[in-house]
Amino acid sequence: MYQVVAEVLSNKNITLNYFKIILNSPEICQNAQPGQFVHIKVTAGSAFLLRRPFSIYNPEDEKLEILYQVVGKGTDLLSKKEKSKKLDLLGPLGQGFELKENFGKVILVAGGIGVAPLYFLAKRLLNHDSKISDQTPPKSYRPKITLLLGARTRKQILCAQDFKNLGATVKIATEDGSWGYKGLVSDFLAETLLRYSKPDLVFACGPVPMLKKIAQLSRKYRLPSQISLEQRMGCGIGACLGCVVRAREGYLRVCKDGPVFTVNQILWDRL
Ligand SMILES: Cc1cc2nc3c(=O)[nH]c(=O)nc-3n(C[C@H](O)[C@H](O)[C@H](O)COP(=O)(O)OP(=O)(O)OC[C@H]3O[C@@H](n4cnc5c(N)ncnc54)[C@H](O)[C@@H]3O)c2cc1C
Ligand code: FES
Repeated sequence: MYQVVAEVLSNKNITLNYFKIILNSPEICQNAQPGQFVHIKVTAGSAFLLRRPFSIYNPEDEKLEILYQVVGKGTDLLSKKEKSKKLDLLGPLGQGFELKENFGKVILVAGGIGVAPLYFLAKRLLNHDSKISDQTPPKSYRPKITLLLGARTRKQILCAQDFKNLGATVKIATEDGSWGYKGLVSDFLAETLLRYSKPDLVFACGPVPMLKKIAQLSRKYRLPSQISLEQRMGCGIGACLGCVVRAREGYLRVCKDGPVFTVNQILWDRL
């Protein structure tokens, strides 16, 4: 883990209240694994003592890309950080996705801003990642990746083209039917599992009700699934117990033991 002061290289509004910030952070980029996050101090001084956690969207050489949605004061302040301003970051933090096996067919499920940790994962799985790590699957194993990308409306569908550019198949679900399947992306997954051959693994990130549905489907079809959980955080490094969730093995800290867990680890009715 590093604590760095990173320069803002750009910070752009991509649609509605969604932004992409690019920070200069070689240390974090070189050491990041898909599914890990950074903890950002959005402003100096005591007004915002708590840092805010954000998934690593894309560590491209020395440029750390983060995709975020403005939902409150912290993210609003972040959206106002201009080029060349400095931000204090801790990272990379947490346990990311487990990629040791060789997968043939993989489904990624993203609900809204939950797409954020999945791009770096797809990039690593498809060998588009310049960094060779012990998690990089050998070139001979290039899984077939399908991303089910869900949001309320067409305007909230994020980054579909980025995944297409990697070579992933992208299928869209919107709750209002303005693009693709009409309904929840978790229902779209249920229908996909009924109609097509089962994947070797499901990776997902999104709101808790979506993840609960994915846990049910995983049990029904005996599908190994890894999910990234979002909890409000204090320290981000495992010390304050502010982010614990109930799990089969007791309490787990989302910041240190996660944010990525297998669906079977979590007691979903206690979440
Ligand atoms: C591991 C992890 C990775 C994350 N990755 C991203 C990401 O890549 N992009 C992104 O936009 N957001 C991400 N989040 C959520 C992000 O941290 C929160 O949206 C942010 O901290 C809100 O700060 P705020 O001051 O703007 O909102 P606040 O004023 O603190 O809260 C506004 C609303 O957001 C909810 N909220 C606050 N903190 C969290 C949180 N940690 N998790 C879920 N809901 C929260 C509150 O309940 C409230 O409804 C992630 C969270 C975690 C735990
Ligand atoms: S946020 Fe402090 S233990 Fe997780």
